[in-house]
Amino acid sequence: MAKYNIAVIRGDGVGVDVIEEGLRVMRAVAPRHGIEFVFQEFPWGTAYYLEHGRMMPPDALDLLGPFDAIYFGAVGHPDVPDHITLHGLLLPIRRGFDQYVCERPNVLYPGVTTPLRGKNPGEIDLVVVRENTEGEYADVGGFQYQYTEQEVAIQSAVFTRHGCERVIRYAFELARRRGKKRRVTSVTKSNAQRYGMVLWDRAFADVSREYPDISTESLLVDAACMNFIRRPESFDVVVASNLFGDILTDIGAIVTGSMGLAPSGNVNPEGRYPSCFEPVHGSAPDIAGKGIANPLAAILSAGMMLRHLGAEDAASAVQRAVERVLAEGKVLTPDLGGAATTLQVGEAVARLVTSV
Ligand code: NAD
Ligand code: IPM
Ligand code: MN
Repeated sequence: MAKYNIAVIRGDGVGVDVIEEGLRVMRAVAPRHGIEFVFQEFPWGTAYYLEHGRMMPPDALDLLGPFDAIYFGAVGHPDVPDHITLHGLLLPIRRGFDQYVCERPNVLYPGVTTPLRGKNPGEIDLVVVRENTEGEYADVGGFQYQYTEQEVAIQSAVFTRHGCERVIRYAFELARRRGKKRRVTSVTKSNAQRYGMVLWDRAFADVSREYPDISTESLLVDAACMNFIRRPESFDVVVASNLFGDILTDIGAIVTGSMGLAPSGNVNPEGRYPSCFEPVHGSAPDIAGKGIANPLAAILSAGMMLRHLGAEDAASAVQRAVERVLAEGKVLTPDLGGAATTLQVGEAVARLVTSV
């Protein structure tokens, strides 16, 4: 019996509902694969902030540290500025646990319609490896003369040789492991950003020499955005800085059908700290509380978590059950053209996960 201790943070908005369905699916898949899950919920998020004046307690990382993994919903609420909520909860977890790889697969599954003309299921199958602890998201900067006419804001991006190399190396290893197109695309902007992105390019060139079996490509981020729409089928592994990876993964989500389908893992590859699995999407205030959020991104994120924990068979079962629900096309939420609720989709996957 494999026992996994999972910290659960549902957060805000649709995060609450989609995590419920991810938990349902994990509970359903567990017995068949000799898994015992111990889920411990942490009620952190904007409601906690409004009550306690902070998004999570000061010793939050100490509390989370002993867990095998973290399963996360979403943060963000219209009543509190995003820079407070995100910097109080999600971003400190990514940085504090050195989750320097953010792995975000985008697959166009059979049964799913892409807004792109002429792209067929099976054709788009890429993974964005996003740098997740530094770059444009480094917490370096400040205000001077704030709220006066002279106010100044400085926001610095931090690119380290170590930080660039390790995430780029992960991307090459992943291209080998996937064994698909065996190609890594680097996303840059060294034409305009002549320090950090130049270091990024050099790190990419240096690491790529260690992988002569993997072909490479380097695209400026503006052209990369265009090509995610024009020729998404050409990508295999795409490695990008924190901000560029963030932007590209919303494009990757929508060209493969929906924000509600895109999973993600914030990974500390060395396993020194727990990794955190969450959908790419946010708290979706426009549909929160309506019971219609697509839970499949959260369920696929649970699948990524199982694979990360070493429960390969259970992870594959989750993946296959989701693919079956999509291919059958009978129980889908409105973002995928259906009329089902979050709960109905979660139940459909949970039913299938024991028989696929
Ligand atoms: P969003 O991802 O929440 O929503 C973008 C669009 O996608 C909306 O139209 C929404 O309805 C749709 N969508 C998102 N998830 C869906 C789902 N599961 N099923 C169906 N449709 C779905 O992005 P946003 O509107 O820019 O941000 C909303 C809030 O979430 C903000 O506070 C933002 O800061 C936060 N946010 C948090 C995370 C996170 O916690 N990881 C990620 C992104 C945004
Ligand atoms: C994501 C989100 C976060 C990010 C925000 C909410 C800080 O957009 O996980 O993609 O930019 O990393
Ligand atoms: Mn994002």
